Amino acid sequence: MVHTPFYDPNKSYEDNMAEGPFGEFANTKVYSKKVEIRKNKFLGQNVFLPFGIAAGPLPNSNFVITALEKGFDIAVYKTVRTGFVKSHSWPNIVPVKISGESLNFEEASEGLVQDSEYKTPIAITNSFGVGSLEPDEWQPDMKKAVDFAKEGQVVVGSFQGTNRGEGIKKFIEDYRLGARLVHETGAKVIAVNLSCPNEGKSNLLCYDRDTVFQIAKEVKEEVGNTPVYLKLAYFENNSEYAELIKEIGNIVEGIAVINTIPAKVYSDESKTTQALPGEGRLVSGICGAPIKWAGQDMVKRGREIVDDLGLNLQIIGVGGVTTPDDYEEYRSLGADAVLCATGAMWNPFLAQQIWEKFNN
Ligand SMILES: Cc1cc2nc3c(=O)[nH]c(=O)nc-3n(C[C@H](O)[C@H](O)[C@H](O)COP(=O)(O)O)c2cc1C
Repeated sequence: MVHTPFYDPNKSYEDNMAEGPFGEFANTKVYSKKVEIRKNKFLGQNVFLPFGIAAGPLPNSNFVITALEKGFDIAVYKTVRTGFVKSHSWPNIVPVKISGESLNFEEASEGLVQDSEYKTPIAITNSFGVGSLEPDEWQPDMKKAVDFAKEGQVVVGSFQGTNRGEGIKKFIEDYRLGARLVHETGAKVIAVNLSCPNEGKSNLLCYDRDTVFQIAKEVKEEVGNTPVYLKLAYFENNSEYAELIKEIGNIVEGIAVINTIPAKVYSDESKTTQALPGEGRLVSGICGAPIKWAGQDMVKRGREIVDDLGLNLQIIGVGGVTTPDDYEEYRSLGADAVLCATGAMWNPFLAQQIWEKFNN
């Protein structure tokens, strides 16, 4: 069963920001856990439940605060930038058809077709282009969200640099500036997005090891002791994954795996018309139930690499969590914490269900 999503795909990004959240997130009921905080540590912060909402569906403090009130003890504020970027035009989210339970790379490269309704198991594509307000606008709002977190909860500030075509040095500098701006809000954990598939580029930044290393170093120099995690995409090649972890494992405190699986999405079965209109939007990020295998595979392999190298690097599992059992599977594969986007959007009770099943 799918609930009314708290981020409404039938409205534009701007209207969601102005009017949301919706459905169960629109009421004022607060879910409280009347127990001592357990020993769960999320990047140095005590949390009741190491579970929450990944970067994306919480675009401002109204959404973040409600997520915290509904039992999501980790709430990631949607990725921001160092300057204004207009979000892609509506629609930004559509349901997609997948032939089986899981999306494999062959099917993704052949292209998917838009579905007519949102249903269980939930499978969508999203394409926002990581729109952002000016820092003068998002900084006070992010600070408001950060300050709202109660004991046992944490708000993560997520950001990414903008490549303005001025060369790699400037791009890395923009990451450094982004880190400073997020740090100024008082965010106790900072997420660096290196894996956005929606900017019309074929190669994701996270596959460029040298640049990732530079960014990680500069970001950490900027934010000091504040824990940082890097948001990565799926790595098919295990030695490249291992090399990356080796490179950044003593610089940052965590990795979040994965973002989405990029795929072409069409509105028609003959695959002639792209589902999301506009240049560079044929490919967008598939998320929800069919990508769970990929997030879990990255957690499992990541755990082995981290343990073999003797690193103290937390692994945050993301992708396809729609039930309490999905959460538990990620934990048993070695995830220190688990985040979800799509599953939470269509099930605002997910954190409460996980808490009641596994922590009472
Ligand atoms: C509506 C929406 C917006 C998203 N925006 C971002 C974003 O701004 N930054 C980011 O790092 N990931 C973004 N993502 C990706 C999610 O954080 C997550 O990695 C991905 O959706 C896989 O998790 P899921 O299967 O639980 O949705 C977005 C996802 C959704 C559904």
